[in-house]
Amino acid sequence: MLQLTNVTKRYPGQTKPAVDDLTLEVREGEIFGFLGPNGAGKTTTIKMIVGLIRPDAGKIRVNGHNLEDDPTKLKAQIGFCPDTPELYERLTGVEYLQLVADIRRIPVRERRERIGKLAETFSLSHALPDLIQSYSHGMRQKLSLIAALLPQPPLLVLDEPMVGLDPKSNHLFKEMMRQHCDNGNTVFFSTHILEVAERLCDRIGIIQHGKLIAVGTMEELRAAGREDASLESIFLELTEGAGEAQ
Ligand SMILES: Nc1ncnc2c1ncn2[C@@H]1O[C@H](COP(=O)(O)OP(=O)(O)O)[C@@H](O)[C@H]1O
Ligand SMILES: [Mg+2]
Repeated sequence: MLQLTNVTKRYPGQTKPAVDDLTLEVREGEIFGFLGPNGAGKTTTIKMIVGLIRPDAGKIRVNGHNLEDDPTKLKAQIGFCPDTPELYERLTGVEYLQLVADIRRIPVRERRERIGKLAETFSLSHALPDLIQSYSHGMRQKLSLIAALLPQPPLLVLDEPMVGLDPKSNHLFKEMMRQHCDNGNTVFFSTHILEVAERLCDRIGIIQHGKLIAVGTMEELRAAGREDASLESIFLELTEGAGEAQ
């Protein structure tokens, strides 16, 4: 579904690459959790997947499409929620979602129902007529998630989506991710919340200093003498001494 092959990205003026020869495959229908210490390269990887920045080297394919040959087709496969959503303050929530629906060419007769359902799921219906500038951080996060889900994308990419959500929204959100996958779609998300990753993800990848240091199911990560280990203890063991990264 999503393939990264030898992907490298170095920011101008930096000596070390932010993402260093990263090869990773995410399979269709799975929830893939992308973990790593601060500054490990998660956001940089995600920005390359969704086409916001270009890799210096390597290839990224989504459902067979790649960024160089058909960027529009690649982007049409993806719903994306960034770590700090930038929204149009002077639009109302519903105007923003209509704009997204226009851009993503969602048929007019389907919009109302999709927007209505998603807004209700995230308890945001009451706020949709209000200007986005009046929204709290959590409400912005929810609006951005709704916008990412609206086109029912085959690949949903989320950068630390649980930050700022209240416990109820958090719960709904996890259910929504599972449901999105049950409908045959794929979810790739970064998170710091290891308990969520452990319970929710089909597979997990851990990145450190731009390199993938572990990947697999929880059972696979537990192999090699860590039979009863929690994801937290595995993570800490593998990334030991990484605290200085940022
Ligand atoms: N725009 C940028 N310019 C220069 N360096 C950057 C930029 N964005 C991120 N970095 C650096 O790249 C590395 C990876 O950052 P990032 O991908 O944001 O990590 P993560 O999301 O895992 O915390 C860090 O060392 C960070 O300081
Ligand atoms: Mg980040």
